Amino acid sequence: MRTEVAIIGAGPAGLLLSHLLAQDGIESIVVETRSAEYVASRIRAGVLEHSTVELLDSVGLGGRLRAEGDEHRGIYLQWPEERHHLDFVDLTGCSVWVYGQTEVQKDLAAARSAAGQEIHYEVTDTALHDLDTERPSVSFKDIDGTRQTIEAAVVVGCDGSFGPSRAGIPQTVRESAERVYPYSWLGILADVAPSTDELIYAWHPDGFAMHSMRSATVSRLYLQVPNGTDVSTWSDDRIWDALATRLGHGQNGWRLRPGPITEKSVLPMRSFVQTPMRHGRLFLAGDAAHIVPPTGAKGLNLAVADVAVLAPALLALLRKKDAGPANSYSENALRRVWRCTHFSWWMTTMLHISEDPFDAHLQLSQLRWVTSSEAGAAGLAENYAGLPIGF
Ligand code: FAD
Ligand code: DHB
Repeated sequence: MRTEVAIIGAGPAGLLLSHLLAQDGIESIVVETRSAEYVASRIRAGVLEHSTVELLDSVGLGGRLRAEGDEHRGIYLQWPEERHHLDFVDLTGCSVWVYGQTEVQKDLAAARSAAGQEIHYEVTDTALHDLDTERPSVSFKDIDGTRQTIEAAVVVGCDGSFGPSRAGIPQTVRESAERVYPYSWLGILADVAPSTDELIYAWHPDGFAMHSMRSATVSRLYLQVPNGTDVSTWSDDRIWDALATRLGHGQNGWRLRPGPITEKSVLPMRSFVQTPMRHGRLFLAGDAAHIVPPTGAKGLNLAVADVAVLAPALLALLRKKDAGPANSYSENALRRVWRCTHFSWWMTTMLHISEDPFDAHLQLSQLRWVTSSEAGAAGLAENYAGLPIGF
């Protein structure tokens, strides 16, 4: 097989990249280890920042998001006895949208399928070759067991944190920075109307809790739990009791509405950045190059931002014979990656309980500052909702 761009991974980064390239008349082939159904139903992120929504709109992918997603002006930040609303629209002019990654993934898959995009699902043994040459390739075993090779001008690794692309950057060149956090999230999906109009991020001495949502009838909630937590030790009643305690704030008779839990899982948290994001004819985008802890709602948005920078760089390289934007892709993308890495670390360490009581004083001081000072609030709002594409 021959194409211009071989894309490894059909998550949000891979499918959106194939969509953006197709709009510029550039051909691609996508390979993916999982089935289309599995990829579309993975429960992951839920919040789209302003620039993500604008980009999806601008490439014809915003229709269902605008019709079925939920626009939010801001978030609530709270600690026991106090709940404060931060209005991102007042602070930055930008809102965010609650629209699950599952829905983004379905919209992307439908658009690519309508355009006749070649995607090989359920492949095995993906391997990258000749990345230092102008004829790199990707080999894999197709669903029927046939060995295939895609020869391309460029290979893009959009294969998340466990894919092979990251290691395609030679060991002598690559560097990584990592922070592992001493806590995880227990996440649940429940068939119950959200008990809040906007997301609640709650600091509590028992541990962080968050109330998010997927629709008018489906709630998504998270609890800070120790690393290594066995999900079977958390019965539904124990989860709802802990959420009610941590999210309660003793004002206006607010109550958390419990309901049937349909999904329950534990997510470890880490920050990770591998540099550079390009070597020879291999480019990395999304989780293949960087991971953030989920507290800042950045993972999916960062994957979108990477490919928004990469697609025009590949257009210049392949059509205009201008290697400039491709040569500066890594540096350009990493500016936003590090901004979001810092923001996600900051939100995480401000809101999660640690073993050191000194931290609790700093956290509460920080929370009081961002909820009482316009400058503090605007900084959080700009990072959460308002960074422009190409920041
Ligand atoms: P992915 O979505 O991981 O896609 C990579 C794709 O590559 C996958 O489909 C994978 O199957 C495929 N692949 C892997 N290996 C190969 C191979 N060898 N050959 C071919 N294909 C391969 N972010 C938030 O902002 N908020 C959240 O609440 C949140 N929750 C999350 C929960 C979980 C459990 C995880 C894992 C992530 C979560 N994230 C969250 C992060 C967010 O979902 C990711 O940042 C986002 O999916 C990144 O998109 P991506 O396309 O770069 O990678
Ligand atoms: C969701 C996840 C997040 O990490 C976050 O910060 C906000 C919302 C969610 O799953 O809805």
